[in-house]
Amino acid sequence: MKITKISLLNFRNYDKTDIKFNENMNIFVGENAQGKTNILESIVILALTKSHRVGVNPNIIKFNKSRCSIKGTIKKNKLISKLEYRQKDDKKELFINNKKINRNSDYLSNLNVIVFIPDDLEIIKGSPVFRRNLLNIELCQIFNKYVNTYNEFNKILKTRNEYLKILFNNGLADKNYLDILTDKLIEKSILIYQLRNTFINEINEVINDNFKELGGIGNITIKYNPNISFESYEDEYLINNLRKNFDDNYYKELKYGMTLFGPHRDDFNIILDDIDLKYFGSQGQQKLAILAFKLSEISIFKKYTNYNPILLLDDILSEFDLKKRNKILKYINNLNIQSIITTTDLKNINKKYLDNSFVFEVNNGTVERK
Ligand SMILES: Nc1ncnc2c1ncn2[C@@H]1O[C@H](COP(=O)(O)OP(=O)(O)OP(=O)(O)O)[C@@H](O)[C@H]1O
Ligand SMILES: [Mg+2]
Repeated sequence: MKITKISLLNFRNYDKTDIKFNENMNIFVGENAQGKTNILESIVILALTKSHRVGVNPNIIKFNKSRCSIKGTIKKNKLISKLEYRQKDDKKELFINNKKINRNSDYLSNLNVIVFIPDDLEIIKGSPVFRRNLLNIELCQIFNKYVNTYNEFNKILKTRNEYLKILFNNGLADKNYLDILTDKLIEKSILIYQLRNTFINEINEVINDNFKELGGIGNITIKYNPNISFESYEDEYLINNLRKNFDDNYYKELKYGMTLFGPHRDDFNIILDDIDLKYFGSQGQQKLAILAFKLSEISIFKKYTNYNPILLLDDILSEFDLKKRNKILKYINNLNIQSIITTTDLKNINKKYLDNSFVFEVNNGTVERK
């Protein structure tokens, strides 16, 4: 799929801006704080209905305005569709071809993106929340059924945690109700475990080749790491195993007043030559592993959704040495999918890639094609 056009209104530091994209590579160049990342963010919001940015002012509406909109035109083969995200104060609305869409699951997957940002280093260095977040973002885009199941899982989890607290405070409360909640939780957990396992297996099929092609040295594997050890991901095995775990740990869960087992405690490790990359390696090496991970997702998106996603690469070149930069650009250029890249200068980009791209200059909330 391709995004052919985007129109922003009162989004971050933009008043009103229209951008027509190249179907291959697009490069946004500008000094710091001019609005390069904001452009990528607008595409992420159009795709995921929320921003990928943490620690940045969550108010995406331009200062002193009360509403904003992001409109995009998406092309899938010959099929054209128009997506729109509108926000007034805290209220969000989604539209496909001008028709209002009420359920997130009916909206997601119309525009699929893979985003790489400098903060992605946290996927290796940070807490498991970052890794689960990555799995959720990708699986919600790839599998419609994941979105609903994951939302339902979270609702049941919340109720079950509340009920465990009640049981703890009042031993007379009904344990049967907890069993009902446990069964419901298990039912939703299964699909989440299975799809996460499938996704990681698929990544492992390709990540090593990609890592090497980008100039990485050594062998990379991703190890899925649920907080219960599973020998299989078959329905029946998972159900029995989970049920036994909850039974065996009834008093422990009461004591802590929370659900101690399940996909909300999942993690995965990125292993380079038998050692968790978290504990060694330069930032450049770690970033390259994350980039290889994200680029490995492309073939998975293609396999399960039939379309190539759009690559959004924020400040991709700054952390890598010159040799790797050109390897990365060559790799992306050879993919033949649409990419949108930001950078603070063009000096280090080989002319043959520039000739193949649309280059946009970003200057204080304005975008001009060079
Ligand atoms: N709601 C908002 N209204 C107006 N301006 C905003 C809003 N949110 C952020 N900004 C402005 O957007 C600018 C930052 O834009 P952005 O993060 O896209 O910069 P950048 O070009 O990616 O810079 P860098 O090279 O440092 O990453 C800042 O000047 C910031 O004040
Ligand atoms: Mg930026």
